[in-house]
Amino acid sequence: MKLAILPGDGIGPEIVAQAVKVLKALNLNIEMTEAPIGGAGYEAAGDPLPDATLKLAKESDAILLGAVGDWKYDKLERHLRPERGLLRIRKELNLFANLRPALLYPELADASTLKPEVVSGLDLMIVRELTGDIYFGQPRGISTLENGEREGINTMRYNESEIRRIGRVAFDIAMKRRKNGQKARVCSVDKANVLETTELWRQVMIELSAEYPEVELSHMYVDNAAMQLIRAPKQFDVMVTGNIFGDILSDEASMLTGSIGMLPSASLDENNKGMYEPSHGSAPNIAGKDIANPLATILSVAMMLRYTFNDEVSALKVENAVKTALAQGYRTADIATAGCKKIGCNAMGDAVVEALV
Ligand code: IPM
Ligand code: MG
Repeated sequence: MKLAILPGDGIGPEIVAQAVKVLKALNLNIEMTEAPIGGAGYEAAGDPLPDATLKLAKESDAILLGAVGDWKYDKLERHLRPERGLLRIRKELNLFANLRPALLYPELADASTLKPEVVSGLDLMIVRELTGDIYFGQPRGISTLENGEREGINTMRYNESEIRRIGRVAFDIAMKRRKNGQKARVCSVDKANVLETTELWRQVMIELSAEYPEVELSHMYVDNAAMQLIRAPKQFDVMVTGNIFGDILSDEASMLTGSIGMLPSASLDENNKGMYEPSHGSAPNIAGKDIANPLATILSVAMMLRYTFNDEVSALKVENAVKTALAQGYRTADIATAGCKKIGCNAMGDAVVEALV
């Protein structure tokens, strides 16, 4: 198996180093090759997605990515900015299905800003479409009108097949997640009362649901979904939504679990080739200080083992090791509460390795 390691910017390198440490401790037959992306790609080759990095990613079975972005690149032309590298690799590799699970570890119930009874037992999966929508729709740009005023344009668009394929991913995951006799549930999030793009989204989801009689499909407007996620998050099982709504809702959902530093993600193509990355960003303000939380990246490795390498045993080993480290009281600063053992990024990596059985 070939794995591309793309640490990226900010805290990317330090969190990826911990995830690699955990992966190596598993002694699997995985060949790892590192390459720059984002600001690091720009520094190395003048391009946030250097050709060599894209080539490596295409040739690999999976990609482990840290994070991209740093304020110091904000003044670069848009196509040179770190985020463009990330968006391009998603598009080039056709990674249309972004899975962002929000799972509350019982030990962290106190770390959430919500009351423990609202979040305890939380286990939801956001399925976000990742290669379409207003992120990629044409026309786009900033132009000058005849009267001299500037206008910014982005275009929200989805065709049927794009909606159907992400819908399938969501329905299939809901069936796999079904627990002891409970009905599998998918909540499709849209703004069908205002936006035609998402009116079509809703129609296609309804059509598709006919093929999945075991799954209960519901619909929610995105504004209401944002509110319900805070009010009563445990009502959700699988949520499926477009690129921009999914971007926003997944950040919101992450805070239910105590810290965005806990949330892994997988971005998959039609053949389960995937890119795995924490849901959070590059946090340049804390980079290099050994205080970042590496658990989202380590848990992304577990998702990689599960979805691309089909190795459920190793995936569970990693997830259980994270649970053990938390149960032993180890916490990075973002999830620290009174009475726990506060440790740094590197030590948290070691704690997870220690806990592997
Ligand atoms: C994410 C990030 C990215 C996105 C940015 C960095 C381009 O926020 O993965 O959620 O908007 O998709
Ligand atoms: Mg985001």
